[in-house]
Amino acid sequence: MAEVVIVESAEDAGEIAASLIETLVLRRADAVLGVATGSTPISTYRTLAAKRLDLTRVRAFALDEYVGLEPGHPESYHSVIHREVTLPLGLSPSLVRVPGDSLTRGADATALDSAAEEYEGAIAAAGGIDLQILGIGATGHIGFNEPGSSLASRTRVKTLMHQTRLDNARFFDSLDDVPRHCITQGLGTILEARQLVLLAFGEHKAEAVAGALEGPVSASTPGSVVQLHPHVTAIVDAAAASRLRFADYYRDAWENRPR
Ligand code: F6R
Repeated sequence: MAEVVIVESAEDAGEIAASLIETLVLRRADAVLGVATGSTPISTYRTLAAKRLDLTRVRAFALDEYVGLEPGHPESYHSVIHREVTLPLGLSPSLVRVPGDSLTRGADATALDSAAEEYEGAIAAAGGIDLQILGIGATGHIGFNEPGSSLASRTRVKTLMHQTRLDNARFFDSLDDVPRHCITQGLGTILEARQLVLLAFGEHKAEAVAGALEGPVSASTPGSVVQLHPHVTAIVDAAAASRLRFADYYRDAWENRPR
């Protein structure tokens, strides 16, 4: 079972998640982080940046990337990770990877498949991911593993659901500009990280959070795969926790946690 922490705000969640990362990197200067994009982890990255730790030896792997955007496009995850993670945290750019970062625009299906396989190899060569930061989409996706994704899936090309494109249209000029395809770590890849930290804020995430943490484990609810992992911390605000059946128990367990 995941440890579920219900907090007042995204800032409070960021404090807890950043402390988990701090504990890891103080123990291991060359730790391997799995990093998510989107709005949710921003408070974690800001809090971590403010700690001014030496993270130059930390290695990082992004969860996913759009297919079809130039790496220099401001909303490619290559650019987002550079802007919101690599620069503020002071990571070494050569130690930060994004799926498909070796590809050029217009890469064909074979090149995408090879890039996905190469990414899996790079994670394995780094010794695996120590701590994976996860957001969750309204569709229940983690990474860009939309409903129907195999619980054993590896890094591969996926088609984004219409709802996900609508949700992410806020980052683009129009819905038409949101790519239809992505390359994402698989659910099986994510499960191999040694620790998962799942973050979610807002009422619009409540159903996905309840499905992930308390629903049946199912490919129709991709986030539910975290129930198969032995070391998960889910940090959610009250709105995102509003459909959790055992919310009172999680609050009690956190307040009375063994010190
Ligand atoms: C991003 C990712 C996605 C997002 C999810 C939530 O790298 O893998 O799973 O975490 O779509 O996005 P936000 O945080 O923008 O609500």
